[in-house]
Amino acid sequence: REQLINRAIKVLEDNYQPGGFTIPSEGLYPFQWKWDSGFIALGFAHFDLEKAKSEIKTLLDAQWENGFIPHIVFHTDSDSYFPGPDFHQSDLHPQASEKYRSTGMTQPPVTGFVLERLLEIANEDGDMMEFVKSQIDKVYTNHIYLYENRDVEGNGLVYIYHNWESGTDNSPIWDDIWETMDPPEYQFERRDTSHVDPAQRPSKREYDHYLYIIDIAKQHNYDDAKIAEHSPFLVLDPLFNSMLIRSNEALINLYTKIGGNEEKLSYLKSKQEQSIASLNEKLYNSTLGAYVHFDLRNNKQIPYVSSSSFTPFFAGAPDKEKAEAMVNTLQQKFGGEGRYLCASFDPTHDRFNPRKYWRGPVWINLNWILFHGLNRYGYHDLADRVKTDSLKLIENYGFHEYFDSRKTNPDTDNSGYGGDNFSWSAALLIDLMN
Ligand code: DGY
Repeated sequence: REQLINRAIKVLEDNYQPGGFTIPSEGLYPFQWKWDSGFIALGFAHFDLEKAKSEIKTLLDAQWENGFIPHIVFHTDSDSYFPGPDFHQSDLHPQASEKYRSTGMTQPPVTGFVLERLLEIANEDGDMMEFVKSQIDKVYTNHIYLYENRDVEGNGLVYIYHNWESGTDNSPIWDDIWETMDPPEYQFERRDTSHVDPAQRPSKREYDHYLYIIDIAKQHNYDDAKIAEHSPFLVLDPLFNSMLIRSNEALINLYTKIGGNEEKLSYLKSKQEQSIASLNEKLYNSTLGAYVHFDLRNNKQIPYVSSSSFTPFFAGAPDKEKAEAMVNTLQQKFGGEGRYLCASFDPTHDRFNPRKYWRGPVWINLNWILFHGLNRYGYHDLADRVKTDSLKLIENYGFHEYFDSRKTNPDTDNSGYGGDNFSWSAALLIDLMN
């Protein structure tokens, strides 16, 4: 046990940068990523509170004037990554950060619940409370940004306009949307496939779609209202919205502890109620027994089950009946004896690919979310299985970015994929073991 934790600490220390932030993985991801930072801070908090704080502080320092927080902060120049700042050109937006170059898209809003967990790990320590007080308004402003600019139907659910905003970058869920598009063939040099086996990464044609959506956003100077009008990709994501709801709840808990802040509390509480009701109404699919994505552009649910489908547990959204149906779906489709929990896409579906990025493999951050969500609903045995499987995968195959969900023989098969010495796999192992 101690040996595994020490190895995890080493991964985090090695990926920590002089600028006070941590890269997800050397070579493949050489900058600061938004939701990675949140999970990474949770790992550091168990052995180095200053680094945990610094991780969040550097991320929030890159917040835009309108409250937006970018998905990548390009702290340094690195040519090992494509597309870099020169492609994204986020400074087209009039309120972009003047201090940092970044992308013009965001990632799941985890920072609220990360602040709450940091305070918990630090045992409600006064110093950490001061830190929370110094950062919480930035997270609150970010939630206002999301509700005021990305809730096109006025029902408390916010859109994402790019698959990279979902965090589940090349999920088979998006295939239906790609079929509605016909982007030009871009000429560019991939960098990711020089670090990782191309069989484990998205295809060239998928990248054409990714770049094309960015180009459309650029044509409109990253204006949210125009993006909502013109982007071919406009989706309500159960994962993104569940993270927002859970972070909202965390802000409510933290502001209540801090005292005062009545106006903020009543804003957050009214959004909270509305968002949960809409999530249940719009994203739950009773035939599948799971939450699914909703394609706003084509006005329909995208009926596939993925690990994102179960993240509403973490947000406390499903009622008892939905919760039971979800557990059944999880066990039947994802939880067979020969499998580790939890594959990122329905293993019984023909689009499932056990090796390719978000098209099937197990990710430790989704497992962490699922572990806490299942415990919240009293499914402790299933939660324990998610935790045990996560630790086993790392113990068998190392601190990889993602893993095969099929149980193989660790002596003969290498089932760890993507980047190696991956920060959130290390950070969340530490948090799960404490
Ligand atoms: C990548 O480059 O695959 C990143 O995950 C995008 O955020």
